[in-house]
Amino acid sequence: MTGPIGVFDSGFGGLTILKKFIEKLPKYDYMFLGDNARAPYGSRSFQTIYNYTLQAVKFLFEKGCPLVIIACNTASAKALRSIQQNNLKLLNPNNRVLGIIRPTVEMLGSITKTNNVGILGTSGTINSKSYILETAKLFKNINVYQQACPMLVPLVENNEIDNFGTDFFVKKYIDLLFNQNQNIDTIVLGCTHYPLLINSFKKYLPKNINIIKQNEIVAEKLKDYLIRHPEIEQRISKKSTVKYLTTDSYEIFNKSASIFMNTIIESETIEIN
Ligand code: DGL
Repeated sequence: MTGPIGVFDSGFGGLTILKKFIEKLPKYDYMFLGDNARAPYGSRSFQTIYNYTLQAVKFLFEKGCPLVIIACNTASAKALRSIQQNNLKLLNPNNRVLGIIRPTVEMLGSITKTNNVGILGTSGTINSKSYILETAKLFKNINVYQQACPMLVPLVENNEIDNFGTDFFVKKYIDLLFNQNQNIDTIVLGCTHYPLLINSFKKYLPKNINIIKQNEIVAEKLKDYLIRHPEIEQRISKKSTVKYLTTDSYEIFNKSASIFMNTIIESETIEIN
């Protein structure tokens, strides 16, 4: 039995990751699940994010996905480790769940020259200190500065992109980050929603800064993972299809997702619990 790669996010942000998967690994089938009815996750408690993410992973496993990518920094920070360590063996020990923080951090050492890296993310991701902890494991000499940007995901979820209000908050968060250290030369947009605001970020970030493209990195790392794990790769179906599922109205999802994916999207509303 083969099945699609499951890609999960709280909302639309994971589409930035999915888009790169489709571009770089086009032969596989994908099943995208956006928990739009309960997004944003960013300011919710550890327990809530863990419960919601576990429900999504279970759902995607039941739909036949042998591999699920948690295309959300907040859920990767708060739920991934517990699901891998405590739930996987009961749910399906042959399946795999991967996150997006570790692969992103692995790239930092080859990019920063000043060894000062800035992370922008949701309150959940920032408070978890996941980027600081993962970086400390791999690169002792890199200093990580963080700034939570709680207003940005709600703006994206409401399709408020490229406008004056969004610019105001993007500038505010960038200023707060650089007030901590002017020598930051590399920045991680540590939330899968933020690439959708890239025009605003580019307006206010210093011109020579390295902006880590998390979706590119994660897609490359997935490619590599599938080469190293043929036992998983062989269980993925390969008809180049993409199925979109949302926990909220499919009409609303179709409208925004079509803009973000640059193509007509037809999704289905599902329930998870
Ligand atoms: N895309 C999610 C992330 O990468 C946003 C989380 C949210 O729903 O607040 O963190």
